[in-house]
Amino acid sequence: PPLSEILNLHDFEGIAKQVMPEKAWAYYSSAADDEITNRENHSAYHRVWFRPQVMVDVTKVDWSTTILGQRSSMPVYITATALGKLGHPDGELNLTRAAAKCGVIQMIPTLASCSFDELVDAAQPGQTQFLQLYVNKDREVTKRLVQHAERQGIKGLFITVDAPQLGRREKDMRMKFEAEDPSEVQKTGSDGVDRSQGAARAISSFIDPGLSWKDIPWFKSITKMPLVLKGVQRWEDALKAYDLGLAGVVLSNHGGRQLDFARSGLEVLVEVVEHLGKERGLVFPNDKFQLFVDGGVRRATDVIKAIALGATAVGIGRPFLYAFSSYGQEGVECALKILEDEFEMNLRLLGAPAIKDISRTMVDASNLSSH
Ligand code: FNR
Repeated sequence: PPLSEILNLHDFEGIAKQVMPEKAWAYYSSAADDEITNRENHSAYHRVWFRPQVMVDVTKVDWSTTILGQRSSMPVYITATALGKLGHPDGELNLTRAAAKCGVIQMIPTLASCSFDELVDAAQPGQTQFLQLYVNKDREVTKRLVQHAERQGIKGLFITVDAPQLGRREKDMRMKFEAEDPSEVQKTGSDGVDRSQGAARAISSFIDPGLSWKDIPWFKSITKMPLVLKGVQRWEDALKAYDLGLAGVVLSNHGGRQLDFARSGLEVLVEVVEHLGKERGLVFPNDKFQLFVDGGVRRATDVIKAIALGATAVGIGRPFLYAFSSYGQEGVECALKILEDEFEMNLRLLGAPAIKDISRTMVDASNLSSH
């Protein structure tokens, strides 16, 4: 169908499933084990209801914001997803170019199909990019990448902490990944790769399961970029990150692709806000320690719920993959435009003319648990 018939982010998924190579569909859509967390990532948002405020002048509405001090046209960023060329020959370049057009921030994955330099060179002057980091067992490799990224103008480093070992994505494993085309995967410097268990396992053997809190001072010594831990899943770890002086955390379960039965980021958000409030007097959102959420976000209403509960912004993954796999760069631009239209309407209906006007009182989250 033509792009004009796409009404929402879910639509891209159905189309991608039809048009994508089976191997790519398996890698993009799969989640861990029985995919319970993947489903929960969506259902958690269904437990939050709005308490709109009426009789507010909403003639003008503005959904722009700042993320780690950088301007963004909306409180959404394109999160890191590996292997873009499985879905489209231009891979992650589709995301870079669409992000430029729509004024959103792209998080470049360590395991992009395009090289890091290609994605940085494709950015427009002033365009913000972050880097997602898988930490290599060889710390010199990681140090070189981080320092190169900082010199190239990357504005935030998101260290993935929920993947000391890749989860079992059985749909993907059944496809028995064979990288016929070595250019599909950016060189990772990993030899002896096991290709018998799907795309994910095949490319991830360099990731260091020894990564720990002890490494944080080292990261701080090699870069001045804001450091964010991606994949935090309990308030105790968010508190440690804050106490160590990090810039924020992404409350995420990796799109349900790691530990099955991990909770939704939205559930975790509620407990983090409560406990960091109690323990350190923090009020969210704030500029000193920012909370991000990803997993299952498909509507501006999902984003608004997370913001009402204290998030600064949310990451979206699969819908952009499905969009470029089906329609290239234009598909991603269309997805972002749909979100913009949704923000405009829903902020009006909620009585919040700007992102900063979205308040805790605008949601009923009593069906989310907090411990
Ligand atoms: C991911 N994700 C991910 N995260 C990360 O830190 N490094 C990575 O290389 C990848 N790769 C990756 C590939 C694919 C195909 C998917 C779907 C996801 C996780 C990603 O950043 C994010 O946490 C989730 O995708 C968010 O959930 P949704 O929006 O896809 O539901």
